Amino acid sequence: MVSRKFFDRIDSIQLENITKKYNDNFAVRDLDLEIQGGELLILIGPSGSGKTTTLRMINRLIEPDEGQIVINNQDIMQFDPVKLRRNIGYVIQDIGLFPHMTIRNNIGLIPKLEGWSQDKITEKVKGLLDFVSLPPDQFLYRYPNQLSGGQQQRVGLARSLAMDPPLLLMDEPFGALDPILRRQLQDEFFRIKQELGRTIVFVTHDIEEAFKLGDRVAIMDGAELIQIGKPEDLIFNPENELVSDIVDSNHKFKHMDALHVKDLMTPMDDKYIFDANLKVSDAISRMTEYNMELGVVFNGSDFKGTVQMVNLLKYEKDEKLHDVAVPSTVFSPTHFVSLALSELKNKNESFAVVMENETPQGLLLSNEVFLKLI
Ligand SMILES: Nc1ncnc2c1ncn2[C@@H]1O[C@H](COP(=O)(O)OP(=O)(O)OP(=O)(O)O)[C@@H](O)[C@H]1O
Ligand SMILES: [Mg+2]
Repeated sequence: MVSRKFFDRIDSIQLENITKKYNDNFAVRDLDLEIQGGELLILIGPSGSGKTTTLRMINRLIEPDEGQIVINNQDIMQFDPVKLRRNIGYVIQDIGLFPHMTIRNNIGLIPKLEGWSQDKITEKVKGLLDFVSLPPDQFLYRYPNQLSGGQQQRVGLARSLAMDPPLLLMDEPFGALDPILRRQLQDEFFRIKQELGRTIVFVTHDIEEAFKLGDRVAIMDGAELIQIGKPEDLIFNPENELVSDIVDSNHKFKHMDALHVKDLMTPMDDKYIFDANLKVSDAISRMTEYNMELGVVFNGSDFKGTVQMVNLLKYEKDEKLHDVAVPSTVFSPTHFVSLALSELKNKNESFAVVMENETPQGLLLSNEVFLKLI
């Protein structure tokens, strides 16, 4: 076994041409997938489509028949599998706490195996219990059967974080919980995700959970990856019928064709209108004051384009907006939303100005449209 330095952060994970068969059946077939450092990637798809198999190949609980998995440019076959797993947190639906061990010892098991002192383990476990909202003085010395399902699930999450792994694999972690508790844990987990800033691969059956937590969503079916993208990519450009069924199980988007830009635009407000003779520095102050990212530039009644905070910062303070404004896509209020969104997507733009008779009516912001729809 070649010994290699373990990663303390994830830059990227590549699954290259991965195939896993059982007898003659493909569990995963020709899978190419790149996971970016720091993202939460969702795997979703019908039962038996290969999600768990994919996840378990990343920590080498299952080894592929073909292809390779590369973390930070190193083939994971070069790592000792036990050590690899200690760098990767793993949370499953049936969390499998040891019934005869206290919560402290369940969470502290791997640190103990790693030779930590008792005091250091207790401190670490207390911190983790706080983190998952279980007061340590109440929970440290309880046994798993003295905890509710949701509390056990939190302990499972705390346990997976014991070694501060840069990568977390989560297989339907909230799947066994009742819907109300599941929502609550999702909300908490969303906070935890922000605080942790880890790379996470998360399997779920619940599309709302996927949209709520995921940065990108990968759809699997019949052992293959069908489509991967941001939620709005899947909704507005589904690869096939299965994808549109999964992402739109509640038929919220089926009526998109009937919606017009005016139904979903952000109405124009004076604060968005900038005079073309304004200086860059003044525009930046005003945008900061109103917490805006975007302005629409007019010279009298002539539309000159738009300015964005990210771009303004690059210009000299004294330049005038008419020199730095850029042309922008314009839609009429009666244009169809579905067409408008696909046009923006094709141009790789995230917003458009809505104008009628040369008068600004509003802004169409693609992520806001998406959020209004889900
Ligand atoms: N050890 C095994 N032996 C034989 N077949 C297996 C084995 N493990 C998985 N499979 C098969 O591989 C396919 C993919 O299984 P996998 O567990 O990855 O599906 P999944 O997408 O996680 O499904 P679910 O949503 O039900 O958890 C299934 O058809 C399954 O029956
Ligand atoms: Mg599974």
